[in-house]
Amino acid sequence: MRRKIIAGNWKMHMLRAAAKELAIQVAPLGSAPKADVVVCPPYTALGVVGDAIASSGVHLGAQDVFWNEKGAYTGQVAPSMLVDAGVRYVIVGHSETRGRFGVPEPGMDDVVLAHFGENDRTVNLKLKAARSVGLVVICCVGETLAERRSGTTDEVVAAQVRGGIADLTAAELEGVVMAYEPVWAIGTGETCESVEADRVCGVIRAEVGVLYGADAADALRVQYGGSVKPNNARDLLSRPNIDGALVGGASLVATDFAAIVEGGS
Ligand code: PGA
Repeated sequence: MRRKIIAGNWKMHMLRAAAKELAIQVAPLGSAPKADVVVCPPYTALGVVGDAIASSGVHLGAQDVFWNEKGAYTGQVAPSMLVDAGVRYVIVGHSETRGRFGVPEPGMDDVVLAHFGENDRTVNLKLKAARSVGLVVICCVGETLAERRSGTTDEVVAAQVRGGIADLTAAELEGVVMAYEPVWAIGTGETCESVEADRVCGVIRAEVGVLYGADAADALRVQYGGSVKPNNARDLLSRPNIDGALVGGASLVATDFAAIVEGGS
C-alpha cells in the first residue's frame, strides 16, 4: 500500500510574513494519518516556513535545485544548501522551469521562454545530485495541449520519464516521486479527467517498470498535478495509480489545501 503524498507548490508567491502565516495554518496537517504533506515555498521563505512547521510533521520542500555542489554558478542553489536550510523534498522538471507554460504571460516570446531552459538531461543531473544528499525528489512530467491533440501524450511522458530517471540506482529511485502534470491543466482551471489522469499515471508506472522492474514500479508514488481543488481531489486521489497531488493555486489557501489533504486520507 503506497502512502499518499500531497505537496503544495507555492511558486513565486508569498513574502516571508505571509508565508509564515500560511505555514502556521497548514502545520496541523502534518498529523494527517494517511498522507505525507509537503510545502514548497520560494527560497526566500524557506527559513520562516521551516521554523513554523518544525516538528509538525509537515515537510519542507524547495521548488528547484542546481546539480553541482559549489562553484561559480551565479544565482544557483546547491543540493547541500537546501539540506542545510532544513529542506527534505525538492521539485525538479516542473513545466514552468522547462518553459512549457499552461498560460504563458503576454510577451513571453521564444527569446524570453528560453530563460526557462530545463530539459530531460538537466532534470536528470538535478535529480541525481539531489538524491546524493538524501533529498526526496518530485520529478514532473507532462504533455502540452498541442502534444495531447496530436496523440503523442504517452510517448512524450514516457520519454520524459526515461530521460529524467536515467541511470539511477535502485536506492536513488526509492527517493523519487513522479508527478504527472499535463501542462494544459496547470493554472488553467482545466483538470485532466480523473480516469485519464489515472491512465497516464499508469503509463508512468509502466515505464518505470520496464526500466527498473515490477517491484520498483509497484513502490513508486505518482502524483497528479494540474488544477487540483477541494472539489476534485477526492475523485482523483481515489484512483489506483494516483498516489497524491502536486497542488499549485489551491495550496495558497489553507482551508483548500486542508480539504485536498483530507481528500487523500
Ligand atoms: P495548479 O498548479 O494547481 O495551480 O494548476 C499545479 C502545479 O503547477 O504544480
